[in-house]
Amino acid sequence: MTVLLTGGTGYIGSHTATALSEAGHEVILLDNFCNSHRAILERLEKIVGKSVPCIEGDVRDTALVKRTLQEYGVEVVIHLAGLKAVGESVKTPLNYYENNVHGTLSLLRAMDEADVNNMIFSSSATVYGDPQYLPIDEDHPLAPTNPYGRTKLYIEQILEDHVRANDNIKVVNLRYFNPVGSHSSALLGEDPRGIPNNLMPFMARVASGELKELSVFGDDYPTMDGTGVRDYIHVVDLAEGHVAALEFLPRSTGFETFNLGTGSGFSVLQVIQSYEVACGKKIPYQIVKRRPGDIASCYTDPNKANAVLKWKANRSLSEMCLSSWDFQRRLN
Ligand SMILES: NC(=O)c1ccc[n+]([C@@H]2O[C@H](COP(=O)([O-])OP(=O)(O)OC[C@H]3O[C@@H](n4cnc5c(N)ncnc54)[C@H](O)[C@@H]3O)[C@@H](O)[C@H]2O)c1
Repeated sequence: MTVLLTGGTGYIGSHTATALSEAGHEVILLDNFCNSHRAILERLEKIVGKSVPCIEGDVRDTALVKRTLQEYGVEVVIHLAGLKAVGESVKTPLNYYENNVHGTLSLLRAMDEADVNNMIFSSSATVYGDPQYLPIDEDHPLAPTNPYGRTKLYIEQILEDHVRANDNIKVVNLRYFNPVGSHSSALLGEDPRGIPNNLMPFMARVASGELKELSVFGDDYPTMDGTGVRDYIHVVDLAEGHVAALEFLPRSTGFETFNLGTGSGFSVLQVIQSYEVACGKKIPYQIVKRRPGDIASCYTDPNKANAVLKWKANRSLSEMCLSSWDFQRRLN
C-alpha cells in the first residue's frame, strides 16, 4: 500500500517508516521538523536501501497535504504528527489544541478532498488517566488528566464521529504505552530537541555524561520498590504494530481501538538497573518529590491487539536498554 506518515521523521514515525518499507509498502513522509532532524532522511535511506520521499510542511496546511495525497496516490495515512510533552501542554495548552486537534481536522479535510479514506492514528495510554483497574484494556474509562491527553481524546472522538457519518471511512486508533529503545542499526532512535522529557532518553544522556543525574519522581508509590511502574514497549515492536494495523484495515469495519504495549510493568529503579547493565556504568540518580499528575502504575492488557492484529510485543527490557545505549553512543 502507499502510506503517508505525518510526523514521519520523528521517533516513532522513522521506525514505522522502516518497518513498513521492509514489509513492502511505499512510504511518504510529511513533517515540519519542529521536533526532528533532517539527517534522519539519510539514515532511513541507508536502512531501507532507497530514498524515502519527504515533504517539508505542516499538517495544518490543508492544500499542501491534499496535493501530497493526490500526487503520490496515497491510500492510507498514519497520523503521528503532534506535540507530546505533558508538562509543556499544561503551560501552553493552546499550542497543543492548535497543533494536535486543529492539525487533525485540517488533515481530515485534505483526506476528504483527496478521497483518502483510511487512517491509523497515534493515540496514547494517557487518555485513560488514573487507572481504575489494571491491566488497562480498551474498555477502561477515559479521563485524561492533562491537556496533551485531552487533545488525544478529543481527536479520537472526532475520528469516531467522522467514521459514524461516513460508511467508507476506516480508522484504526492505536493507544501506545511507553515506547523506548532504538533500531538495531543504531541509526534511528529517540533524540529529542532540548532536555528529554521521558525516562530513557534522559537516562541515555546521563549515561553519556551530557546530563549530570537523573531525578526519580517519588519512591513512595504502592509498587514493588516505591517508584512508578510503566509498560515499556520496544519502539521496533511498536513500529511492527503499525504494519499489523495496516494489514488489519481491510478487515476493519469503521473505528477500532487497540492498546499497544507488552502487558508487563517495570519500575523506574528496574529500568535504571537494566540500563546500568546495558551501558556498563552507574547511572547517578536522586529521589525527588512526586510529580503532580503522575500515577503509580500503568500497564496494558494486550490481548485484543494480540488476537485481532495478530501482533505481539516480544522484545525484552534488556533489548530496549541495549538498543537505546547503542544509539546514544553513536550520537556522541
Ligand atoms: N513517544 C511516546 O512516548 C508516545 C506515547 C504515546 C503516543 N505518542 C504519540 O505518537 C506520535 C509520535 O510520537 P513521537 O514520540 O514519534 O514524537 P516525535 O516528536 O518524535 O514525532 C512527532 C513528529 O511530528 C512532527 N510534527 C509535530 N507537529 C507537526 C505538524 N503540525 N505538522 C507536521 N509535523 C509535525 C515533529 O516534527 C516530529 O517529527 C505523537 O502523536 C505522540 O503524541 C507518543
